[in-house]
Amino acid sequence: MTEIIRLEQVSKEYPLGAHKVQALKDVSFSVDAGVLLVVAGPSGSGKSTLLNLIGQIDVPTRGRVIVAGHDLSGKTPDELAELRLRTVGFIFQSFNLFPVLTAEENVEFPLLQMPEMTKPERKRRVAPLLELVGLTRYARHRPNQLSGGQRQRVAIARALVTRPKIVLADEPTANLDHKTGSGILALMKQFNRQLGTTFVFSTHDKKVIDFADHYVGIEDGELRFLGLRKEGRWVVRDEWRDRRQAERRQGDRREPARSDPATDSDQGTLS
Ligand SMILES: Nc1ncnc2c1ncn2[C@@H]1O[C@H](COP(=O)(O)OP(=O)(O)OP(=O)(O)O)[C@@H](O)[C@H]1O
Ligand SMILES: [Mg+2]
Repeated sequence: MTEIIRLEQVSKEYPLGAHKVQALKDVSFSVDAGVLLVVAGPSGSGKSTLLNLIGQIDVPTRGRVIVAGHDLSGKTPDELAELRLRTVGFIFQSFNLFPVLTAEENVEFPLLQMPEMTKPERKRRVAPLLELVGLTRYARHRPNQLSGGQRQRVAIARALVTRPKIVLADEPTANLDHKTGSGILALMKQFNRQLGTTFVFSTHDKKVIDFADHYVGIEDGELRFLGLRKEGRWVVRDEWRDRRQAERRQGDRREPARSDPATDSDQGTLS
């Protein structure tokens, strides 16, 4: 498998008055292309910060972020904007749709920034995507004429319209009821399986975690777990086990983290 995202010792500090908030501390991991990865952790653990760094919405204080083979450090804002347009789609928790644009215009919007896209080509991209997310009948509706689940589906179609390699979704189900949320996750999985799009989504909901096949657990800005699903259960990634063993040899005896499924008694395969 090809690696599509890599973080190398990434830290992010935010200035807050005279203090600094350490949102991420020394986070390193890689993501293979085509996986459905969940970033899980409690509120304030650094999930949005992590997604924003991968999505090039923010820059790390230290460390390197490499996306689709491009090292993001040292790129100009214009280069970053172009790379973002061509490689990532973002689904925000609050949808971030343009209220004055219709559903189809919202989906079309990123394509307007691609000069090679003619109007007929844009239409050819937008219509089948609206169909796929089940919104053809609502194409002319503005966001305030749509339900939360329908808005989220517009946001998904907009994230996919540029055919990005990676889609980042920050708590995509947090504002939705359980059934609608499950439908949105099933849609993401469908795109993942059919198009090979890499999905990275964040959540603090245990039920949502089980939609993923790779797992990054964070707490207090620190990486606490790297896992993958095998035969329906979460198992520790070899890379993470090796790193933990090396840390233990160096005498690091941290308490197991709450967000670490290795501490769940029903996860017998984990150690
Ligand atoms: N712009 C900012 N300025 C100062 N501190 C910030 C800023 N953005 C985030 N933080 C802090 O960084 C930490 C991580 O925030 P982040 O938004 O990444 O958490 P999160 O895991 O997404 O939480 P939630 O589940 O509530 O969305 C928090 O302590 C937060 O207060
Ligand atoms: Mg967040």
